[in-house]
Amino acid sequence: MNDHPNPRLRTLPLGQGAEAPLFAARVVAITSGKGGVGKTNVTAGLALALAAQGQRVVVLDANFGLSNLDILLGLSPKYTLEQALHGEKVLEEILLEGPMGVQVLPTSSGLQELTRLDTMSELRLVQGLQRVAETVDWLLIDTAAGIHDSVLKLLLAAQEVILVATPEPTSLVDAYAMVKVLHLREPSKPLWLLVNNGQSAEEARETVEQLQEATGRFLGKQLKVLGMVPHDPHVLQAVRQQRGVVELFPDSPASRAFGAIVRQLLGQVSLQPDDFAAFWSVPAPGDTP
Ligand SMILES: Nc1ncnc2c1ncn2[C@@H]1O[C@H](COP(=O)(O)OP(=O)(O)OP(=O)(O)O)[C@@H](O)[C@H]1O
Ligand SMILES: [Mg+2]
Repeated sequence: MNDHPNPRLRTLPLGQGAEAPLFAARVVAITSGKGGVGKTNVTAGLALALAAQGQRVVVLDANFGLSNLDILLGLSPKYTLEQALHGEKVLEEILLEGPMGVQVLPTSSGLQELTRLDTMSELRLVQGLQRVAETVDWLLIDTAAGIHDSVLKLLLAAQEVILVATPEPTSLVDAYAMVKVLHLREPSKPLWLLVNNGQSAEEARETVEQLQEATGRFLGKQLKVLGMVPHDPHVLQAVRQQRGVVELFPDSPASRAFGAIVRQLLGQVSLQPDDFAAFWSVPAPGDTP
């Protein structure tokens, strides 16, 4: 798929032109199927954990029309994607400096869906993202809930997809549906599974097994397990303070899990679901959520 002489450059088939655009950063989209399972918190957690490892990260808030990543990180955007897509600002001008050096491309209410953008706006977005990606190691895309064309377009454009699921049966069913849709469109797409908000390691591991069983049996698709993040009251406490949990409570169970997941993403370790069980059982000293 990527036959560019520079293997670090990746294609992004978002543009309208004959040539697929190339990206210098690792482009990873975070999705779920069901809403409210923790995509935005996971995106923020991974971004900050990557930054803690010295990685340069930009996060695109692709919840077009429903901004929340900036709110989650306590940022107050003056300009958003709206101005960038209309050509009033270049994308670099809307970049916000977030915690730990993570940069955010904020969206705004009233923004059109990606599929309804005119050719000029889409070109501005793609070319702007290409330029921004030249300056960082990672471009993380926090997508909206549901299997809409807009979301699918971003998932197909990204090099890797992280599927977030919780142990709830509805989340599992919707996660499976998302895998199926993506698999039918692009069977070779690298798809990571991240189970979030499990009450226990057993519950999270069962979720992993059930999804793997279903996608393996019915689609012949192997999901790579990226990791499991515990249900952790620190997450909600950080949300209330509009701070990233990784920054505010670096020793909390969720933050430790994000750290491990990032090391897995960076290829520094190869972790199995059992390795994540530790994050449920070790309360960090001084943790008083
Ligand atoms: N590991 C966790 N432990 C405790 N609470 C969590 C955890 N992950 C997410 N939450 C809580 O779940 C709620 C939903 O999280 P979030 O907004 O990240 O979900 P989302 O998938 O982005 O939602 P949407 O589909 O609306 O974009 C938030 O209140 C958040 O604090
Ligand atoms: Mg969200």
